[in-house]
Amino acid sequence: MPHAHLTLDPHFTVGRINRRLFGSFVEHLGRCVYDGIYEPGHPTANSQGFRTDVIALVRELGTTTIRYPGGNFVSGYRWEDGVGPRAQRPNRLDLAWHSTESNDVGLDEFAGWLKDVDADLMYAVNLGTRGTQEALDVLEYANIDSGTALSDQRIANGTPKPHAIGMWCLGNEMDGPWQLGHGTAMDYAQLAGKTARAMRQIDPDLELVVCGSSSATMPTFGEWERTVLLETYHDVDFISCHAYYEPHGDDFASFLASAVSMDSFIESVVATADHVKAVLHSEKTINLSFDEWNVWYQSRYNEVDKITDANVWPQAPRLLEDSYSVLDAVVFGNLMIALLRHADRVTSASLAQLVNVIAPIMTEPNGPAWRQSTFYPFAITSRLAQGTVLELKLSSPTVHTDAYGEVSMIDSVATHDETTGASAVFLVNRSLTETLDVRIDVSRLGVSRIVSAETLHDADIHAKNTLDDPLRVTPHSNGTASLDAGTVTVTLPPVSWTALALH
Ligand code: AHR
Repeated sequence: MPHAHLTLDPHFTVGRINRRLFGSFVEHLGRCVYDGIYEPGHPTANSQGFRTDVIALVRELGTTTIRYPGGNFVSGYRWEDGVGPRAQRPNRLDLAWHSTESNDVGLDEFAGWLKDVDADLMYAVNLGTRGTQEALDVLEYANIDSGTALSDQRIANGTPKPHAIGMWCLGNEMDGPWQLGHGTAMDYAQLAGKTARAMRQIDPDLELVVCGSSSATMPTFGEWERTVLLETYHDVDFISCHAYYEPHGDDFASFLASAVSMDSFIESVVATADHVKAVLHSEKTINLSFDEWNVWYQSRYNEVDKITDANVWPQAPRLLEDSYSVLDAVVFGNLMIALLRHADRVTSASLAQLVNVIAPIMTEPNGPAWRQSTFYPFAITSRLAQGTVLELKLSSPTVHTDAYGEVSMIDSVATHDETTGASAVFLVNRSLTETLDVRIDVSRLGVSRIVSAETLHDADIHAKNTLDDPLRVTPHSNGTASLDAGTVTVTLPPVSWTALALH
C-alpha cells in the first residue's frame, strides 16, 4: 500500500484563520431565496416567512458571512424596490437569470434573517446599470443611525437600528461580457474607484472589495487585476476571485486535482496585487476575497437550465440545482484545504451558494430540507479549523492527471489553536484506485489523543443525497486512526476526504 508522511510544527505557521473564510452567498437566483430560505406557507416558516428548518441547517453549516444579493442579479438590481410595504413592491424583470423578481425579500428582511443564522452581511452594490449615487443611497439607508431621508425611511419601514454593514462588494464580475454594464478594466476601475472614495466619505472604516476576474480562464485575467488595482489600490481592501470546477467528460483524475488550479489562481492574484504594491511604493497589502467558489456543473446550466424565451419570465424557477456526489464533495473538501493553505492572503471567502442553487442545502416546497454531500466538509472544516494554519511538510506518492501532470496523491492542511490546544488535520486522497496509509508526526504539537476521525467516502463515488434518500451520503468514523509515540497513523480510501481532530 502506498504511504505518505506529514510533519506538523506549531512554530511554523502560514497565518491566522479569519472566520470570514467560512462565508457563503445568497443570490436572488432560482430558488435560493424564494422557496429556499423564504417560504411563508411552509409548515416550519416563522412569522417573517423564513423556513426555520433551513435556519437550523445554515447554523449547523457554520457559515460566518453571507454575500448578498448577487451575483449577476445585482448588476440590474434596484435596492429600493426591496424595502418598504410589500404590497407596493414592484415585480421586475431579472435579466441575469431571465426571471421575475417579486421583491418580497429585500435588505431589511435579509438582514433580519442573518441574525437568526448568526452571520454577518457582505453587501454588493450595483455597478452594472447603476453607479456611485445608488451605492451611497443604499449605504445611507443601511448604516446611518437616523435623521436623514433614507435612514428615516429605514426606521419608518420597521428597522430602527442601522444594519452596520462593514463589508461591501463594488459590483460583481464586471470583467464578464455576460454582465450588465460590462466594460473595459479601466471603465470599471474608474467607476469602482470613485464609488469607493465616495462611500468612504460616509464611513472611512468600510471594507471594500473590488472585482477581480470571474475565472482564471478569462482572456483578460491578470491584466484585469493589474489595471483595476493600479487605479483603486488606495481605496479598496480586497480583490475578488471567483472559480467553479466541474469534471470534463470522465476525466475524474483531473477533476480530483482541481485544488491545484485554485492554488495557482490564488498565487497569481497575490503576485499581481504585490506587483502593484511595489509599483505604487505602497505600505498597504491587498488581500483576496474568494467570494464565489464551488463545484458547479456549469455546462449543464448552459445546455439544460438556461431560459431564453422572451415571453417566459418565471418566478423562482429551478435553476442551477446541482446534485452533488461523493466525488464532488471530495473535490469540494480539497478546495477548502486550498483556501486554508492561503489563509495569510485569502482572508474572506464565500461558498456559492447556500440553498438550492449549487448549494449544500436543498429544500422542497412544502417539504423537507436536506444536506448535500458537500455540506459535510464545509460544516466539519468550519467547526474544526480554529486558530492558525500550520506550514506542512508533506511527502506523498503522485497521481497522473491530464490537466495538471503529476500531482501529489494526498493533499492536506493542518490548523492549531494555541488557546485551546486543539489541532485539526484535513486530508484528501485524490487517487481513484489506491488506498493510502498516512503517518503524521505530531510530536511537536504534544498531541495526547485523537478526538475524532471522520471520513467521507463511498464505494460508489457517484452516490448522492436526494429528496427520497437524504442520508445516503454521510461521513463515517475512521476506525484506522491511531496515535502512538507522537505519530498519528490513518488509512485513507481512494477518493476520500478526512478530518482529524486532535488534542
Ligand atoms: O453563482 C452563480 C453565478 O456565478 C453568479 O451570479 C455570478 O457572479 C457567477 O458567474
